[in-house]
Amino acid sequence: MPTLTYLGHSAFLLEGGGTKMAIDPFLTGNPLAAKQADEIEVEWIYLTHGHNDHFGDVLTIAKANNATIIAPFELATYCESKGSQIHPMHIGGAHEFPFGRLKLTIAHHGSAFIEENGTIVYCGNPSGGLITMDGKTLYHAGDTALFYDMKLIGEMNSIDLAALPIGDNFTMGIDDAVMATEYIKPGKVIPIHYNTFDVIKVNPSEFVEKVQAKGFAGQVVEPGGVVEY
Ligand code: NI
Ligand code: MN
Repeated sequence: MPTLTYLGHSAFLLEGGGTKMAIDPFLTGNPLAAKQADEIEVEWIYLTHGHNDHFGDVLTIAKANNATIIAPFELATYCESKGSQIHPMHIGGAHEFPFGRLKLTIAHHGSAFIEENGTIVYCGNPSGGLITMDGKTLYHAGDTALFYDMKLIGEMNSIDLAALPIGDNFTMGIDDAVMATEYIKPGKVIPIHYNTFDVIKVNPSEFVEKVQAKGFAGQVVEPGGVVEY
């Protein structure tokens, strides 16, 4: 059974499939970070998109661990230009990795990395990820608006755990994420991408109560908390 440790914002440590993976490891500068970058030991890193609050410490972690970065093609190529090992993918594509299967979904959002001097680096399309390890499927939606094709994602996949952004302003807010849950039909849903910054402050218990009222299992996971699924 995979175990997922929430590191705050959209960042996770995923253990399963005989390996360890970090997802969107924004730790340095993340007020909710449950771990520091130098505490992360992984073989793989999945980046949903290039925004700095997801890219985070990816280059440092990849280098320290000799880890491979899985990301949409343009973003992966940018990481490669900085010296990282990569596995580029793109929307709609799946691949069988040693740990299991990863398929990229659409996400309605942006994807650029802002360098320290303010230069905007185009990173292609943003993604969500369907990660299947040990026969269990996690859907990390990345940053996204609500989109009706989530219904297709729910019909085509048996999703055991969904991590959905609820913070509003940059992504879905609570009510849109509740509708997303109805489309995706996950075994359990956990909220992400909230309360890191003032502009995305919401009450995650409101989200959980609303999904429970629709018959879904929802859980607020505190940074550092572990979810089995
Ligand atoms: Ni973003
Ligand atoms: Mn974000």
